[in-house]
Amino acid sequence: MFDNLWKKTLAATLGLSLCASLTVAQEKYGFGTKADPAEIAKYDIDIHIDGKGLPAGSGNPALGAEIFEIQCAICHGEQLQGVRAMGANSLHEGRRDIKKLPYATSLFDFIRRAMPLTDPGTLSNDETYGLVAYLLTQTGVLKDKDVVLDAKSLAAIKMPNRGNFIIDPASRFSAKDVH
Ligand code: HEC
Repeated sequence: MFDNLWKKTLAATLGLSLCASLTVAQEKYGFGTKADPAEIAKYDIDIHIDGKGLPAGSGNPALGAEIFEIQCAICHGEQLQGVRAMGANSLHEGRRDIKKLPYATSLFDFIRRAMPLTDPGTLSNDETYGLVAYLLTQTGVLKDKDVVLDAKSLAAIKMPNRGNFIIDPASRFSAKDVH
């Protein structure tokens, strides 16, 4: 407990001095602006594996297929086979096989924050749900081609490979931290 108090005090002190030096930099050198809450919110988009943080909206494979064709196929290939010349591996085989992901929520998080590679952050929530629905039906994880994914149904998906991950015994995490 003492240890924790120490850490908290240290974190608070560092935080305060960082704020103080930013304010000094702003006033003294005339650069930098204070990040306002709306700006911070743009970066505060992480989604937890249990679905916490998933936004409103929904999408189906048909919507996803449309977007994929226009914005993703050039690198990932019409059949998800990957276009090596563009640096993208197959999405349904090998190391980048999305079926191997333990949680579908991570797929949403990744696509929303990082894809399309040349223009990340431009997909709407509906489009991102649609893309996840399309990718998961194309790879056979979801069987229903008319599935509609939203925050609730996406979080409920059980990925086929989920049970095959083990906690490294040398890690400081335990199973309760990840499930
Ligand atoms: C300019 C090329 C490019 C475009 C366009 C692009 N991607 Fe990617 N994508 C990549 C590269 C490169 C990677 C890195 C991983 C790899 O394939 O080796 C990647 C990785 C991914 C992954 C992670 C795969 C994994 O299991 O690690 C997903 C999912 C993905 N892209 C989806 C999309 C979607 C959906 C779109 C369209 C909205 C898109 N990408 C558009 C190049 C691209």
